Amino acid sequence: MNPVLALARPDILELQPYQHATWDPSLERMHANEMPWRAQGDNTQAGLNRYPEPQPRALVERMAKLYGVPAANCLVGRGSDEAIDLLVRAFCRAGQDSVVITPPTFGFYKVAARIQGASVIEVPLLPGDFSLDLPAVVEAGRRAKIVFLCSPNNPTGNLLDEQAMLAACGELADRALVCVDEAYLEFAARTSLTQRLAEFPNLVVLRTLSKAYALAGARLGTLIASEDIVLLLKRIIPPYAIPASTVEQVLALTEAPQRAMAAARIRTLLDEREKARQRLAAMRCVVRLHRSDANFLLVQFQDARAALEAGKDAGLLVRDFSGAPGLPNCLRISIGTPEQNERLLAALERL
Ligand SMILES: Cc1ncc(COP(=O)(O)O)c(C=O)c1O
Repeated sequence: MNPVLALARPDILELQPYQHATWDPSLERMHANEMPWRAQGDNTQAGLNRYPEPQPRALVERMAKLYGVPAANCLVGRGSDEAIDLLVRAFCRAGQDSVVITPPTFGFYKVAARIQGASVIEVPLLPGDFSLDLPAVVEAGRRAKIVFLCSPNNPTGNLLDEQAMLAACGELADRALVCVDEAYLEFAARTSLTQRLAEFPNLVVLRTLSKAYALAGARLGTLIASEDIVLLLKRIIPPYAIPASTVEQVLALTEAPQRAMAAARIRTLLDEREKARQRLAAMRCVVRLHRSDANFLLVQFQDARAALEAGKDAGLLVRDFSGAPGLPNCLRISIGTPEQNERLLAALERL
């Protein structure tokens, strides 16, 4: 058994999971209180009158193949957001346990912890290059149940050093989970830390179809971890978490042609990111342009409000981070289509 399971909430380890209706497609269903007929106009394959398969096997296998890991190490959920929520619920006792986050970073880690009643230890990324403060992360991790690392990091855009993340895993073995969120990894020239799972039983990796695969609306994220952690989280994920329509759409939209298209679009997006970077670097209204390994750029302007308004006047919304600690006058610009990028850059050039 993975020794990290000893960190889970004792009541969750003892919980008798919800017994959902048996999944046996070889038999006709008269056991789940469903309507026997479809709703008018329901032309899904499975029929929306039926509850979907819990942890649909074909979907889990597709994600396992996509991410190059065994299916037993994958848990699928409604976006990586659900995986973050499940981890915090399974490992943090309300009022007693903590998580570590490294701001500025993705906001939902903190919110999920707070919802669960866990406290949040903040170990800021180092000013300048937003790298990991490894000794401080390890020190804080010894007092926490989960350390959330985001690489490439949202909203700064940079990858975290792989050796530093693995060192954190090693130092915190048996002490805390290290959850590495790779939501933007497809935009970076870096292999996934999933390749190191066998060496680090406390490592958990999050992947999502929301970014590179253009499926944010489908809500499908994959948590990749040791089989024991996956089995534990299966005990607490809501019984029929993934809607049948998502299962069908994701299976149809992650076939070889769609994967080839995604790869081509990533290349286009990276070209556009480089063009935007060069144009922004030449603008007088730009104070600092942060390195990005993701599908967005974090830009410090002389006057973020003016830049935000210029975008709005051009019909475009970018994200204001100027209120976030360490990010004065910063906006995060998601790279759009060439036409959208041109419209935004032209508006900013006029500032
Ligand atoms: C770093 C990071 N992790 C997770 C998510 C949530 O992704 P999902 O759509 O898979 O829930 C986001 C969304 O923006 C993100 O930036």
